[in-house]
Parts: sequence; structure tokens; C-alpha cells
Amino acid sequence: MPGFSTKAIHAGQDPESVTGAVTVPIFQTSTYAQHELGEHVKYDYGRTINPTREALETNLAALENGKYGFSFSSGMSAIAAAMSLVKPGDHVVAGTDMYGGTYRYFSRILSEVGVEFTYVDMRDIENVRTAIGPKTRLVYSETPTNPMMNLTDLAALGALAKEKGLISIVDNTFMSPYLQNPLDFGIEIVVHSATKYIGGHSDVIGGAVVTSNAEHAEKIKFYQNAYGAVPAPFDCWLLLRSVKTLALRMRAHCENAQIIADRLHADGRLKQVYYPGLASHPQHELAKRQMKDFGGMISIETGSLEAAKRFTSALQYFTLGESLGGVESLVCHPVSMTHGSVPEERRRELGITDGLVRLSVGVEDVADLIEDIERGLAAL
Ligand SMILES: Cc1ncc(COP(=O)(O)O)c(C=O)c1O
Repeated sequence: MPGFSTKAIHAGQDPESVTGAVTVPIFQTSTYAQHELGEHVKYDYGRTINPTREALETNLAALENGKYGFSFSSGMSAIAAAMSLVKPGDHVVAGTDMYGGTYRYFSRILSEVGVEFTYVDMRDIENVRTAIGPKTRLVYSETPTNPMMNLTDLAALGALAKEKGLISIVDNTFMSPYLQNPLDFGIEIVVHSATKYIGGHSDVIGGAVVTSNAEHAEKIKFYQNAYGAVPAPFDCWLLLRSVKTLALRMRAHCENAQIIADRLHADGRLKQVYYPGLASHPQHELAKRQMKDFGGMISIETGSLEAAKRFTSALQYFTLGESLGGVESLVCHPVSMTHGSVPEERRRELGITDGLVRLSVGVEDVADLIEDIERGLAAL
């Protein structure tokens, strides 16, 4: 099998058949000419099928070592399509700690139409086993979690789901397909916010679903067309352009993040540094087993809202903003930003305190980022 970057550059991207264009063209069309009445043509309508999107979907499937890829206009619409595999009356076991928007979708939309959820700490797979009941149909995990950087043992979750006959879904956004491939560990469906590392330049919103299960794939394709939350051809083209450098970017993100995490960890002024690449991370050994490297996301506990404000205000290169995974470093305050939709009591249980700050380490020169971090620490 070709290596990751070879797949990223070639999968789904043969030179175009008419002109030989090496780069997949942007097929900016909503419809296609049909030759004769009643004659079935592959390309019929832009929501259903588009060649630029097809190229992206083939590519993303290859990167996740899956057979079928589907792209969406956002990570949330990708998650919504994958979660459409459950029906009212079904029960889902999900991780306690996940992106706030996913929790909002589960608790405010799916729960209201009769899908039941039990949220468990997925650091211990026995919690998942205990929560499984007669109506359970699906298990859903994010690993590492946003923002607490907790891990789920993918092989254990995949095996448990198989044993119990359940669909398993993992949100692989924080790792990108370069650092972790859940399908290789027996997980059935991977979802991504392609807005993050896959896009990598903070200029496109997108999502993806990848699976090797033909039955799930058929349904997800149906939902994709039926809901219509498909990405524009230009966004597909941007994402295709982005994935070509995914390996290069991820290596740079990881290298910078490890240096910064080590520096933060060595500083006595922080209460906690959450990064799976630190030997002090309780799941460091698991991280080494299932991740190629430790990623670009670090969370820190500054101690209070005031300290978080002082730290973030002192930074020059880390821009205060939602999102993550771009080449530029970003800093985020989960309580007031990404996790505002998670109820306060639940946030407290998870450790998402007023003092928690999340860093998305970019690919700038690390000496400049370290200088920035020193400014933040001095302001504490
Ligand atoms: C882990 C994770 N999953 C899903 C999403 C949702 O993706 P999008 O914003 O592209 O809809 C996000 C967004 O921040 C995320 O961090």
C-alpha cells in the first residue's frame, strides 16, 4: 500500500481525462446535460454528485484506510449524517467529554426526538460496558477529547462494539487521518471536522465521514443527498489542496506542540498541563500505542478566569479565536467559547473550569511561539 503522503497527493486525483489537468478541476456546476430522455447518466445533479467532491471523498477514504468517504459542508453535518443511523427509541453510549456543539446536537436535538444517551468516562472501557443496555445501538467517542485531552482505547472500544453488535463512531478531528486511523482498530465509522487539520488554513468549513461498512455507507450516502448539506466544489478543491501537505503540517504541529508542552509542564505557575505527549499524561502509554504522534492541541489550567484573561491577553502570535488545526496558532477559552453550550455543572465535572485555556499550536517558528508563551506565563 502506498504511504500516507503518496495517497494524499494521488488518491482520487488522476490527471483529468479531457485536458490532462494535473490538478482536479473545480466543477462549478449545479447540473449536467443529459443525452436522451430516460437514459441514466452518472452525473445528474450537483447535490447528488460532483466530480471535485468525488475526488475529495476518494482521497479522504484512502487517508483513513476506509472504503467509502463522504464529505459534508461542516463537521456538524457529517456528525448529523452518521448519527442518523440511530432512530427514536435507540440508546447511545457517548463520551462525557466532547466538542460542545456535538453535545448540543445530542442533548438538544437527538434527545428531543427520542434517542436516549448515556454519557460515560471513556478512559475506562468498563464504563462503556456497564452502560450498554438492551436498546443500545451505537457507541460514540472523541479521542483525544476536546478540550481535556482524555483518550479512549480504540482497540478496546472497537472490540466491545463488535462483541455487542453495536455501531461505533469516532470523531478523529483532533488527530487528523495522519496521526490516527480508528478504522484500523476495529471502529466502524470515522467522522471529521475537516475545518480543522484537514483544511489546515482556517479558510474553509467542512466535514467528512469514512467507513468500510457497505451497509452504513449506503445509508450515509442517502442521508448526504437527502439532507443536502454538501460542500461547494470550491471548498472540496481547497480541501484537496490542503490534504497534500497534511503530513508535513502535522509533523510540524506535533514538533512545536511537544516543545511548548514541555516548557509549560516545567513551569510551576500552571496548575495542570494536558497533553498526551507528556510522560505525566495518565494515558501516555495508550497514546503511544494508537497515535503516530501526539498532535498540536494542549490545554492548560491557569487557576482562574482572571489568570486565563491575563495569559491570553499577553499573547501576540496565538490569536484568541474559536477553531483549531490551522497553520496559525490559536488560543481559546472553552468556557466562554467552544463549550459555552455545555451546562455549567457538567463542565465542572469534566474539569472545564473558568481557568482552562486551550492552545492550538501552529507551525510558526517555535522560538517565536515560546517567546509568546513566556509572555503569557509572565502575565500570570
Ligand atoms: C472535535 C470536533 N468535532 C466536530 C466539530 C464540528 O465541526 P464544524 O465546526 O466543522 O461543524 C468540532 C468543531 O470545533 C470539533 O472540534
